[in-house]
Amino acid sequence: MTSPDLTLDEKASLLSGRDLWSTKAAEHAGIRALVLTDGPHGVRFQTGEADNLGINASVPATCYPPAVALASSWDADLVARVGQALGREARALGIDVLLGPGVNIKRSPLCGRNFEYFSEDPLLAGVLGTAHVKGLQSQGVGASVKHFAANNQETDRMRVSADVDERTLREIYLPAFERVVTEARPATVMAAYNKVNGTYATENTWLLTKVLRAEWGFEGLVVSDWGAVSDRVAALAAGTDLTMPGDAKGDHTVAAAVRAGALDEAVVDRAVARLRAVATTTGSEKQDVDFAAHHRLAREVAAECLVLLKNDNAALPLADTGSIAVVGEFATTLRYQGGGSSHINATEVDSPLEELRKLLPEAHIDYARGFDPTGTADAAGLRAGAVAAAAKADVSVIFAGLAERDESEGFDREHIALPAEQVQLISAVAGASRKTVVVLFNGGVVSMEGWHDSVDAVVEAWLPGQAGGGAVADVLTGRTNPSGRLAESIPLRLNDTPSFLNFPGEAGHVRYGEGVMVGYRYYETADVAVRYPFGHGLSYTTFEYSDLRLADVTADTATVQVRVTNTGDRAGKHVVQIYVAAPKRPVSTPVRELRGFTKVALEPGESVVAEIRLDRRAFAYYDITAGKWAVAGGFYQVQVGYSAHDIAVQVALELPGDADVRPLTMDSTVGEWFGHPVVGPALTAYMAEGMTEEQAAAAAEHQDMVRMVESMPMRPFLGFLPNPIPEDKLAEFMAMSVQAV
Ligand code: BGC
Repeated sequence: MTSPDLTLDEKASLLSGRDLWSTKAAEHAGIRALVLTDGPHGVRFQTGEADNLGINASVPATCYPPAVALASSWDADLVARVGQALGREARALGIDVLLGPGVNIKRSPLCGRNFEYFSEDPLLAGVLGTAHVKGLQSQGVGASVKHFAANNQETDRMRVSADVDERTLREIYLPAFERVVTEARPATVMAAYNKVNGTYATENTWLLTKVLRAEWGFEGLVVSDWGAVSDRVAALAAGTDLTMPGDAKGDHTVAAAVRAGALDEAVVDRAVARLRAVATTTGSEKQDVDFAAHHRLAREVAAECLVLLKNDNAALPLADTGSIAVVGEFATTLRYQGGGSSHINATEVDSPLEELRKLLPEAHIDYARGFDPTGTADAAGLRAGAVAAAAKADVSVIFAGLAERDESEGFDREHIALPAEQVQLISAVAGASRKTVVVLFNGGVVSMEGWHDSVDAVVEAWLPGQAGGGAVADVLTGRTNPSGRLAESIPLRLNDTPSFLNFPGEAGHVRYGEGVMVGYRYYETADVAVRYPFGHGLSYTTFEYSDLRLADVTADTATVQVRVTNTGDRAGKHVVQIYVAAPKRPVSTPVRELRGFTKVALEPGESVVAEIRLDRRAFAYYDITAGKWAVAGGFYQVQVGYSAHDIAVQVALELPGDADVRPLTMDSTVGEWFGHPVVGPALTAYMAEGMTEEQAAAAAEHQDMVRMVESMPMRPFLGFLPNPIPEDKLAEFMAMSVQAV
């Protein structure tokens, strides 16, 4: 992997950006410059003054639904289509790498960037992230899966150390990256700003070299987040290949370190080779983009993402008769994306009110502004206008949510409440209306307390992208039957959230004290009530499960087959969610975990057998002592749910578990010695041999005492034995245990 055609200084210089959005070229060595641009849900390509904070204008591009919405579709094919469309737009502008997707886990609803991330669940985030990358890269545009890793807050994001135990990293914060890397082979991985367990992600050899490259086989380029590298030499040595944006001073430091013998030149050569490889796999021919078609796609996609949370008294879908009061500023000024580096200059933006009028030409639709998101206009006056409109209508539809300034990259939220004037507005309108529907626009979860029970229906529209107005109209009128499901739990109160006591940390550290108990894993295990559980979402039709069975069962895999029937009178889509509840294991275990899902489309009365393969990982936990994934023996429940809280059917599955054949030492416990598959029986036989009849009778009588000493290490236990075991016998047993591995 050497680059004989380049001098050391040239090589070092290639490893930092030319400017904010491109790398350098070395034409004599056949290396062209790469263009990297944000991402993730649209192309933010700047031709004028550049910045990475979303401040200056970028060329118009389609703003697709951000990840918060996309994830609610639970539809990998749909996400792949968005990836392809992003690829077409990026390619048309000569972009080599579109920065994204972001597959960080939503640890707290407060994270200011949750709208850019998919889910609180690593499987859902990983499957959808993989689909995004495959779609994008099919168009010859590289992806940059980010932010690797444990970047779960904005507070102090460029310095904070995420202190996370290894099992939690392996089971919660890394699997989405692992899946994307191993299944979609992204061109690049973006190393995060923060530290992971005390070491900057960009300088973290364990993360970038041991896990990412050695274990997962990543062969692409590791690029730093913008400004994430403070020590170029340490970063390169740890596995960060390209530092973005420019860093001329650091280039000299790298070359000097090689000359001084402090950095192996092979490390520099390897990074250059990886950079060169990206240039050969990206940058295919430009094509014209059909932006009208992409807007239609953005609408179709957004409609699949909306989640119907509540629908009492058949409030929805709206009929094309009678009168409707549309209330709220967001009905005319759509709130459709978040702030920061992903901010897109949309090609066009739908107005929900206009789209609703188009789809309901016969209905009489009145509009009242209801509230002012900037908080300047008189709230009481706006509210009175809305109440007057509501009193005359058959149904009121309130478009509420968070303003752009409430949530963004760069800072975290401090609470999850809706603005107080909106809570007052909803309550007042609900009091005056015959029926009330609330449509919510928000990138991070908002609390529904104080008003939820007074309304008939709630639609969570998240941030639906530029065509969200049309998509909302499609769902409200029943033109699209809603099929979104929550990709994150909606808590009753912020205080109930699992990271509440450990967010956003202090003195430069944030301790992930809740461990693997993130999101629904915590609520279900600790039996904490939520407003709506992970996986929840309604439809205008109904679905039922039957005939659950397992096929192709092996020692650690199985295929779930379950019949799903559309028992209502409309065509619709349903997400089949498979959870696994593990038996007692030597680690703290969530009540259930999502291990598979698929989305099916069914006509009224139609049924289909859904098939979901559960691999070994579906049953495994990460054993930190052995440094590998382990399957415990016992009875597992394979559960099919409407949500993480609402399990419809389940079937038991007995797995033998991995043979526990680790070497025994004098520090291994009595339980481990006697439970060892080879040594255990030999030790029992040896001890029985040396016993007198009375001793054997006493031992048989005190069987229950075994539990008392089970957790005692062998060394102190020996002192309690009436007949000591000779040293050489113990050594023999330990040798047997080593041989058995
Ligand atoms: C963000 C990245 C983004 C980069 C370039 C950083 O501030 O964390 O997500 O891709 O800027 O704009």
